[in-house]
Amino acid sequence: MTQKKTVLVTGGNGFIGTNLVRLLIASGAYRVVNLDALTYAANSLSLTDLDGHLDYEFVKGDITDRQLVASLFEKYQPVGIFHLAAESHVDRSIVSADDFVQTNVVGTYTLLEAARSYWTSLPDELKKAFRFLHVSTDEVFGSLGKEGYFTEETPYAPNSPYSASKAASDHFVRAYHHTYGLPTVITNCSNNYGPYQFPEKVIPLMILNALSGKALPVYGDGSNVRDWIYVEDHCKAVKLAFEKGKPGEVYAVGASNEQKNINLVNQICSILDDIAPPSEVHQLREQGLESYSELINFVQDRPGHDHRYAIDSAKITRELGWQPEVGFEKGLRHTIEWYLSNPEWVDQASGGSYSEWLEKNYAWRAKKESR
Ligand code: NAD
Ligand code: DAU
Repeated sequence: MTQKKTVLVTGGNGFIGTNLVRLLIASGAYRVVNLDALTYAANSLSLTDLDGHLDYEFVKGDITDRQLVASLFEKYQPVGIFHLAAESHVDRSIVSADDFVQTNVVGTYTLLEAARSYWTSLPDELKKAFRFLHVSTDEVFGSLGKEGYFTEETPYAPNSPYSASKAASDHFVRAYHHTYGLPTVITNCSNNYGPYQFPEKVIPLMILNALSGKALPVYGDGSNVRDWIYVEDHCKAVKLAFEKGKPGEVYAVGASNEQKNINLVNQICSILDDIAPPSEVHQLREQGLESYSELINFVQDRPGHDHRYAIDSAKITRELGWQPEVGFEKGLRHTIEWYLSNPEWVDQASGGSYSEWLEKNYAWRAKKESR
């Protein structure tokens, strides 16, 4: 039997991290040490089934804590790191970017420094095998017009404080490969959807607002386009890039699934109409809705809102053999069913600091018109 490899994962309690940790452990090849600060975006219920699992260890801590990070490399001697921890919500970065600079820029730099120092001390064979896998986003490339796709060659043009902080982190990762030879790999992926996504992001937000009979706030005229990928497909690409990606390389990841926001929201409403008709949802009876689409509200646009994202993922398909597996209709239905079946998780995510934050900070999203 081959020995399991220990890897450090940062941000394992977030949306993509939760799905990635499960994938790595289920593969039987890895022992995962998950470093997560448990910010508002984490959910303590997401990984409870792994409590006590021999291949899983949780460490609560901040990636900007240099001493802690260095001690984890020392203690666990990982074969590499999957770096996901980040502040990830564009709207929050518009309200204040402090945490984005700290975690996304300073945190990534701190990890790179600790990784470099550990990696330098490794014997040649382990040094060669080591990987620093940096999970990034297509938002660093800015906004597309009607035509064209983002590729690994697209110049950086981040438009939001969030994407600027991710772009800065990508540049640090690139520089650590170029300057020190640290074996880094970067993935730039499009919008993920699936189970365990925090309900500030558009898909869970629309699902949960609809089920509570609240307005569905579509920014601007709803014509902005996002390229949606099922989270497990993204995690498989990240695992493959870690295992087979060439040091110093970048891989763009997407599922060729562009959707206008308004069409996306209509699809969510139509699946909900089918599996949880408003007339059968107790708390909605008095509203007399025939379809959830009656809740759609066009609201003031997000400042600096990128118009279109679309990924050409030919390189990762050609070089690493990756292909998305989950079709959008199936993935979206499964996602909606997951939110319907996990009320405890939803309650934990929707309460506390999140509801307070919404109250205080979404003034710019005031209702513009309704249709
Ligand atoms: P998320 O917001 O759901 O989770 C982030 C996780 O990081 C949380 O568990 C949080 O507690 C943790 N974290 C935040 N700050 C930390 C810190 N200082 N120290 C330690 N842990 C900290 O994010 P996500 O959507 O799962 O995204 C994960 C990564 O993937 C991010 O780097 C994001 O930029 C990137 N990404 C996301 C998408 C997407 O559509 N969600 C697409 C492409 C790339
Ligand atoms: O492209 C990858 C990125 O996708 C990731 O790097 C980010 O971490 C992730 O949050 C996501 O960014 P977006 O800004 O695209 O995701 P969000 O869910 O916030 O918004 C998706 C689209 O829906 C966007 O065009 C804005 C719109 N929207 C969003 C919200 C929250 C609405 O119309 N109404 C809303 O209430």
